[in-house]
Amino acid sequence: MTTAVPHPKRLFIRTWGCQMNVYDSARMADVLAPLGYAPAEAPEGADMVILNTCHIREKASEKLFSELGRLRAAKQEKAALGERMVLAVAGCVAQAEGAEITARAPWVDIVLGPQTYHRLPEMVARASRAAGAVIETDFPVEAKFDHLPDAAAPQGVTAFLTVQEGCDKFCSFCVVPYTRGAEFSRPVAAVLAEARRLVAGGAREITLLGQNVNAYHGDAPDGPTWGLGRLLRALAEIPGLARLRYTTSHPRDMDDDLIAAHADLPSLMPYLHLPVQSGSDRVLAAMNRGHTVEDFLGIVDRLRTARPDLALSSDFIVGHPGESAADFDATMRLIERVGFASAFSFKYSPRPGTPAAGAPLQVAEAEKDARLAALQALLRDQQAAFNASRAGMTIPVLITGAGRHPGQVAGRSPWLQPVHADGPLDLVGQVVPVEVLAGHPNSLAGKLVPGAQATRHHQPEEEPAPA
Ligand code: 5AD
Ligand code: SF4
Repeated sequence: MTTAVPHPKRLFIRTWGCQMNVYDSARMADVLAPLGYAPAEAPEGADMVILNTCHIREKASEKLFSELGRLRAAKQEKAALGERMVLAVAGCVAQAEGAEITARAPWVDIVLGPQTYHRLPEMVARASRAAGAVIETDFPVEAKFDHLPDAAAPQGVTAFLTVQEGCDKFCSFCVVPYTRGAEFSRPVAAVLAEARRLVAGGAREITLLGQNVNAYHGDAPDGPTWGLGRLLRALAEIPGLARLRYTTSHPRDMDDDLIAAHADLPSLMPYLHLPVQSGSDRVLAAMNRGHTVEDFLGIVDRLRTARPDLALSSDFIVGHPGESAADFDATMRLIERVGFASAFSFKYSPRPGTPAAGAPLQVAEAEKDARLAALQALLRDQQAAFNASRAGMTIPVLITGAGRHPGQVAGRSPWLQPVHADGPLDLVGQVVPVEVLAGHPNSLAGKLVPGAQATRHHQPEEEPAPA
């Protein structure tokens, strides 16, 4: 007699928003794997569907509710076959609007905030029994990381590692301090152990993640907490880990040791995302950013002194309440002065419950549109000029996978630009010298330097091979 093998349950996760959410989705898949859930390609027919939402920009809840409408039909189809689809809403919209979700979409089984993912298996079990939805958006006292399984799924050549979550800064426009809660750093030992596992699983580049990643202050084995600079120095010692990055930083937390790490660690890539939001001191004060334009420019100078090839990226908001034409001009001047390799820019959009949403002097929509168009044109030109400036250089490229065309490989430059070159797939995972032939607006085209050995450019990027 043969024993019936239970058919694997299919799990579909749709992820909106930031890299933190991408990471969280992978962790949710990890905690559900022991219950027999394997990834599905589409929500139709899945046994469990998780919508991992992002609240940071407009229309998040409209998108969510229209998706929930579609999933209601998929759920009914499955029920007609006598099967069940467990439907969960996770992420920041769940955190902020949990009660509204269960009221407007009672077919949702589970609503869970970002602090409670380790409880997913329990919630799934409860949802399978309960008639109504399970709501878990409280901030529990225990750290969620301590309850997640050790064996994070291998992420490939480039991997993300969350080291910090939450934010205590309360910028006037931002929901993160409300939805993600207070700042929290993972202990050093847990971070180092996860980094070693990622490297053992094939990661050559690790990007440390956190809403305020450079506010990191993790408990250390030797007593006092470590800042991000110290953590990066320890990570840089891991054999086989060629590249380190971190995002997203706040100017207020760029301390001396972190800036020095950019000078001292060749594996810390010369590219930094450092949101400034505005180039006007008046607006920065209204935003409660806790830094001035001069502070920001001083940090940029010190970073460029530490690492002369460092390129910068940033976030900008146009049309914050009270932003005048002169304030906006000041932002344009800051961009001209600093020069950015890439950037994200947004029209201010009021988030309910944040101080700026109720502030007087909201900027007219048409004015925001005009300012955003002008700002993006300038930033696009700067990005194109930066990419074009790489042409003719030979740069170290981490090969990450197949390119768009047969016989091509894709990789990334030290400055996070996508790079395409002809080459064999067995280069995946190696850092190889590439001569840049052309810098396009969004990527670089290059050719492998013939006969050159992997790894070394002007900065050593890899551990020497064992003798
Ligand atoms: N309106 C517009 N942009 C916002 N951001 C955050 N909140 C808002 C908002 N209410 C932008 C900021 C932040 C990035 C992640 O999203 O620039 O740095
Ligand atoms: Fe939001 Fe970043 Fe400001 Fe924190 S520091 S409130 S995450 S914009």
